[in-house]
Amino acid sequence: MRSIALTNQKGGVGKTTSAANLGACLAALDRRVLMIDIDPQANLSIHFGVDVYAENRKSIYELMIGEARVEEIITQTRLKNLDLMPSNINLAGAEIELVGVVGRETILKEAVAGVLAGYDYVLVDCPPSLGLLTLNALTTVREVFIPLQTEFFALQGMSKLIETIRLVRRRLNPDLQVAGIIACMYDGRTRLSQEVCANIQEYFPDKLFRSVIHKNVKLAEAPSHGKPIHAYDRASRGSRDYMALAREVLAQEELLRREAAAGGDGGSH
Ligand SMILES: Nc1ncnc2c1ncn2[C@@H]1O[C@H](COP(=O)(O)OP(=O)(O)OP(=O)(O)O)[C@@H](O)[C@H]1O
Ligand SMILES: [Mg+2]
Repeated sequence: MRSIALTNQKGGVGKTTSAANLGACLAALDRRVLMIDIDPQANLSIHFGVDVYAENRKSIYELMIGEARVEEIITQTRLKNLDLMPSNINLAGAEIELVGVVGRETILKEAVAGVLAGYDYVLVDCPPSLGLLTLNALTTVREVFIPLQTEFFALQGMSKLIETIRLVRRRLNPDLQVAGIIACMYDGRTRLSQEVCANIQEYFPDKLFRSVIHKNVKLAEAPSHGKPIHAYDRASRGSRDYMALAREVLAQEELLRREAAAGGDGGSH
């Protein structure tokens, strides 16, 4: 089982689009996938057609404050192999409500511990902040994927994110590692996108996925239809990009197995 948080405190870089479509592509490639939406914006949940305003739907908010069990929250999506733990706007209050609660950084980890074994991939879509919700995500998973928008400010704020990951590794989760950088909204017509990718390579040697995600309007349209890209428009560039990324993610499995067997530190970032 691989558990991966898609994290970047910068907003609008492609975290949710990547979580949704990577999750859906991995499921289409016969992996059992659980997606966890820990962002109060609930974009990932909406992406899969969940009515996040339904009064009696329990969400990760109730889980975080101890008013629901994980089994009550996990929802099957319309796609085979793909389950979701939906979010709710109420989650925005959780950071404050949980102040003073001992062990508040490990609530998610403890809540999902019993269900992880039922999945091959667990993907956590984080909010654009490094607050308590993101800390819970980073404490639950072993790997981080960082989606970046290939624009001028792409790497701004990156040292803060890396520092946070280091801190979590030291205090809460020694296994945590940055396992991949996803270049999102790539525009092949501009030199800027290429330059930013070159900068990423320099900053994170060997971490940038070769499959870049091009700018593609179909990716922005798909959520309003409550579908991931390959269900919305399989022939689109966005669909092909995320399928290529999913295959690259699967190819990492063998590498990770070898690293683990060799007792590799896996945490050089
Ligand atoms: N490759 C792409 N091509 C075109 N539009 C994209 C692409 N990737 C994402 N978008 C659009 O850009 C916007 C931001 O993307 P997304 O919601 O995935 O970012 P995010 O990092 O999750 O944002 P937030 O920080 O608010 O959670 C969305 O409207 C999305 O549909
Ligand atoms: Mg998002």
